[in-house]
Amino acid sequence: MPDTGMGASLRHDSALRHATGEARFCDDLPEPPGLLHGALVLSPIAHGAIEGLDFSAARAWPGVVAVFGPGDVPGANDVSPSGRAIEPLFAERLAEHWGQALALVVATDRDAAVAAAAAIRPVIAPLPAVLDVAEAAAARSLLMPAQILARGNAAEALAAAPMRANGEFRCGGQEHFYLEGQVALAIPNEDGDLLVHSSTQHPTEVQHIVARVLGCPQNRITVNCRRMGGAFGGKESNASWIAAAAAMAARATERPVKLRLSRRADMAVTGKRHPFLFRWQAGFSPDGRVTALDALLAADGGHVLDMTPGVLFRAVTHALNCYDVPDVRIEGLGCKTNTVSNTAFRGFGGPQGVLLMEEVLRSVARTTGLDIEAVRAKNFAGGANGSHTPYGQAIEGDLIRRVHAEAQALAGWDARRAAVDAFNATHPTLRKGLGCFTLAFGISFGLMHLNQAGALVHVYEDGSIRLNHGGTEMGQGLFIKIAQVVADAFGVPVEQIRITATSTAEVPNTAPTAASTGSDLNGWAAHLAASAIRERMAGVAAEIWGVAAGDVAFADGMVRAGGNQVMAFSDLAHACILRRVQLSATGFYKTPDIHWDPVAMRGEPFFYFSYGASVAEVVVDRLTGEYRTLGAWLVQDCGRSLNPAVDRGQIEGAFVQGMGWLTSEELVWDATGRLRTLGPSTYKIPGSRDVPPVFETRILEGAPARAETIFRSKAVGEPPLMLATAVWNALADATGAVSLSAPVSPEKVLAALKRQSA
Ligand code: MTE
Ligand code: HPA
Ligand code: MOS
Repeated sequence: MPDTGMGASLRHDSALRHATGEARFCDDLPEPPGLLHGALVLSPIAHGAIEGLDFSAARAWPGVVAVFGPGDVPGANDVSPSGRAIEPLFAERLAEHWGQALALVVATDRDAAVAAAAAIRPVIAPLPAVLDVAEAAAARSLLMPAQILARGNAAEALAAAPMRANGEFRCGGQEHFYLEGQVALAIPNEDGDLLVHSSTQHPTEVQHIVARVLGCPQNRITVNCRRMGGAFGGKESNASWIAAAAAMAARATERPVKLRLSRRADMAVTGKRHPFLFRWQAGFSPDGRVTALDALLAADGGHVLDMTPGVLFRAVTHALNCYDVPDVRIEGLGCKTNTVSNTAFRGFGGPQGVLLMEEVLRSVARTTGLDIEAVRAKNFAGGANGSHTPYGQAIEGDLIRRVHAEAQALAGWDARRAAVDAFNATHPTLRKGLGCFTLAFGISFGLMHLNQAGALVHVYEDGSIRLNHGGTEMGQGLFIKIAQVVADAFGVPVEQIRITATSTAEVPNTAPTAASTGSDLNGWAAHLAASAIRERMAGVAAEIWGVAAGDVAFADGMVRAGGNQVMAFSDLAHACILRRVQLSATGFYKTPDIHWDPVAMRGEPFFYFSYGASVAEVVVDRLTGEYRTLGAWLVQDCGRSLNPAVDRGQIEGAFVQGMGWLTSEELVWDATGRLRTLGPSTYKIPGSRDVPPVFETRILEGAPARAETIFRSKAVGEPPLMLATAVWNALADATGAVSLSAPVSPEKVLAALKRQSA
């Protein structure tokens, strides 16, 4: 392990500041004089025609400075990420979901703004609301054209198959529950320029949408983000409109404006993971090989488009996961309902998509009487089966089988299976279950142009180095990883690299930090920038010493050539300045080789696949339906990990978050479309006691990425969330259910047990 820290388990650069509370989040920034605080006016009904929005009560409230509605937007009242759909910042004629933003109140203190906003009583004539995805799918209430991925002829293959099964199930949405809620601080500068501090995964989109809403050129807006207190996809597009609302008020009042949502408002007004409805029909042979599959995946997109096309793309392309089915047809529907517009959430449609084959495999096992793990192995892509996805991309069967075998070995599968069966044969009230899961998750943005990144590196005269890049830090450890890459390029200790806030003024036109691509994209960009400077520095050293530039080496904070030619890195930096050599460089990277035809649904959209496998053991109480996850064993492919400690944190955290989605986290809308789960008292995210008491994670060893990724590392942010699917499978095993909609509440466990005993 080189001492520059490449591949070293360095702690998160802010770990200590996170622990002491010294790390500054958006709301911790010193408040500028004259600061105003915002509060949103939200729709009290799910669907209706807005007939009156009288601001007078709010305007009369002590401390209120201004109230803004759709008519006050100086530019476009449109915050759609694509810019090609209309997604209003403030609803104009129609309120389309309960909790939709109608207006913004700004006041000298936050309590006054919140109270004044609540004093506004919108007059809205109710219209019928579509609240359920099945209802929307049946009525063809769609946000977009269907996405159909087909290979061969599923209908014919189904008809020809010796055995058939079909099913229907659902999975729920998920609230991001980032600890730091949505927040933006907009500060007017000279001549209408605006500085926006935003808790965002996508500073560039914040900049673009603020400019669109204000009707000004993008060069007037600067967006900064040092860190987020969690994002999980929830701050990919939603941060933009929060910032736009604050910016609009700042521009109009010529005062700084901060908009920080309360937890309740945040949960009411911001999008969540898409709930899905699945309907499928499969054909297979008595030996468990699935030969045909026809499936419908209906995603609940909520009231506007947002990123639903991208989420659906990922769900559809991941519906076969790591399995091969020769004749297949997957239809993806983006349904429109009168609920909050659903958005990116860790896995971005992947976690939903990969559930499909799990239910199919369970059903095949049940019908054929074969063991589920034998059925799983029978259908892995590669080997005797096809090694290409239905959209035409090759997938590595050897790694699929390897992670699966290693996870089973880690869990001691055979002995555990026997122990669980023995336990179940004797215990009067408890039942145990075991589940397994294997994953192939495609890495790259589905929207091809987003697969680019930039970096800006400066070396100063004293040898200290400043790093900036387009990626954002949300707790995932991106900044330390990129600092390690730059430290390696210069052969200096990582402490010599100063990590700085993401800013549209330093690196422009960036992609969001999403799709797990942060370190892949920004790592290369930073490496290229640092390498450009190092080459120039090597040239100067070579000149001083009269050697070839190729003989100059950078290590341990020193620069060397041959035996006794040595100087400190800082001395070489100083020498470069005297010789008028530029010590600043930008780096730019775009993912090579990827391509996608969205009409044909064909191409090689992913630079590579990330592989993982898991085993989980659960115990359920037959009398109450309550359950616990007793153990989890995970093997995750990280390529050659840039930072195993950070990666391990990602694997554990993602797994627990995925477990929450499939088990305890349930969003409940009432019959009028009002969300009734608006805080931790009614919405149950996993707590420390839900973490499995036996929890073993392994990073797959000796598996450098085959694609040319930065130092042959692999993305890790999202894939391990899906490893929690093993818990879902274990619950199915414990309850004897073939079909088990998520989240698996104790009520569902009881119902499944009842069905089994009947
Ligand atoms: N980890 C923490 N601690 N907080 C987060 O908000 N977001 C996840 C993942 N890990 C998240 C996280 C999501 S949704 C993505 S896409 C990736 O981090 C993004 O960062 P990366 O590309 O640098 O992995
Ligand atoms: N993942 C996350 N966010 C995205 C993606 C994706 O694949 N595409 C566009 N935004
Ligand atoms: Mo992650 S859902 O791609 O932000």
